[in-house]
Amino acid sequence: MAGRYWIETYGCQMNKAESGALEVALEARGWEPAAAADQADVVVVNTCSVRQTAEDRLWGRLGLLKTLKRRRPFRLVLMGCMAERLKEEIFADAPQVDVLVGSFQKHRLVELLEADGAGPDPAGGRLALTGAGEYRFAERHSRRHSRGEFRAFVPVMHGCDNFCTYCIVPYVRGREVSRDPGSIMEELGALLPPEGTARDITLLGQNVNSYRWAGGPRGDGGGPPGRAGVSGDRWSAPLDFPGLLRLVLGQLGEGVWLRFLTSHPKDMSDELVGLLAEAPALCRHVHLPVQHGSDRVLEAMGRGYTSAHYLHLVERIRKSVPLVSLTTDILVGFPRESEEDHRRTLELMRAVEFDDAFTYRYNPREGTRAFLLGDDVPDPVKQERLSAVIELQRGISRARRRQRLGRVVEVLVEAVSKKNPRELLARTEGDDTVVFPGQPERIGSFVRVCLERLAGNTFQGRETL
Ligand code: SAM
Ligand code: SF4
Ligand code: F3S
Repeated sequence: MAGRYWIETYGCQMNKAESGALEVALEARGWEPAAAADQADVVVVNTCSVRQTAEDRLWGRLGLLKTLKRRRPFRLVLMGCMAERLKEEIFADAPQVDVLVGSFQKHRLVELLEADGAGPDPAGGRLALTGAGEYRFAERHSRRHSRGEFRAFVPVMHGCDNFCTYCIVPYVRGREVSRDPGSIMEELGALLPPEGTARDITLLGQNVNSYRWAGGPRGDGGGPPGRAGVSGDRWSAPLDFPGLLRLVLGQLGEGVWLRFLTSHPKDMSDELVGLLAEAPALCRHVHLPVQHGSDRVLEAMGRGYTSAHYLHLVERIRKSVPLVSLTTDILVGFPRESEEDHRRTLELMRAVEFDDAFTYRYNPREGTRAFLLGDDVPDPVKQERLSAVIELQRGISRARRRQRLGRVVEVLVEAVSKKNPRELLARTEGDDTVVFPGQPERIGSFVRVCLERLAGNTFQGRETL
């Protein structure tokens, strides 16, 4: 055994996928997971910078890790967006951090740990892997396929070119880069049956529908798209996002769901909506962050669309894909947001009737353009508006769920229900939770159930033919 590792992950699915990639790489080199941070030789903290609260939590955690380290030394690695954003400050103010890994040097971490060996006192002392560079995708992001879980996240693009004026992501993750289709297909090959057990694949990117592979010369002059690229080769044909989805759909086989996250409204093409309508394996579930309902605010946010454009897009999606589940992100309290602006957000929510919404309170991030506008919506007002948004959405979500009662839907069975061992826990393609009576042999398979009752947010179902 090379040593024991412990990874803590904050932030979005991309961070989770990158932590997964690190686990895979460490285990391939003989590392084993520790039962707790204070039993590890290396502790990795994968951080997020999207809001100040995320960073504050991390500073608190660093304090605790310092105490743990005094009791039993380990090597402390800080990676992720906050490590990229605050590299100098962290290195100066947190001497307990031994290795700092920025966004563009993550691929070097495993080799570094291997070269120094496990243990608290590596010859190299403190190290900062924080230089600029091109983002490199890992080959595998999850070991789930070998552990009997069914959901897998596969990054296909990285970074963001949108520079929404409130958002730190483009600064910490850099410009958009798309992953070689050959490498995506190879990872899928390992995740999907017969090699793996994944049944629900999510293609991941900050702005996933702007995926664009330029193509390029192949080293071996090899075959057309359709065959997973031989490593070292570039995929020769150019591909946009619908093209990538078609390629992946062609490889999926029976009994696998495909999703993608997160879509930007400006990149939601007719072709993509058409695919959602016609490809049964593509989940009818779109996460489409709107952020705000006021055109004035949308413009100040630099989102690149108006509320009318968004509503029109929703209409197009619902017309083509009638049973689609639509979710969103909403940001309240952007600088100079007036009561009237806020009302427009509520109006848009009522007009769309999202199935669910992730709601956020604006938090100024230094270095973004909105930071220069100040943070002039007082906290109690932000809180009040956030509460109104949450309350409204709660009612809409409840009503939308009630509308689904009586429907027969396909679900993926994930586990035995914790509350009742005679029942199974499953999910719909729109991500609703369903429990229904059934035997554990059905875990991992798709079953048709009738949605009969609602208990809170969970459907009670019955298997049907
Ligand atoms: N790429 C996605 C998109 O286009 O919406 C979002 C990625 S971001 C990590 C997730 C959410 O965090 C955003 O949708 C936004 O609502 C929220 N967010 C980003 N910056 C924020 C800030 N400064 N304060 C509060 N919430 C923020
Ligand atoms: Fe941030 Fe906007 Fe990019 Fe989403 S699209 S990551 S909100 S800059
Ligand atoms: Fe956070 Fe970075 Fe993701 S800032 S939300 S971990 S891209």
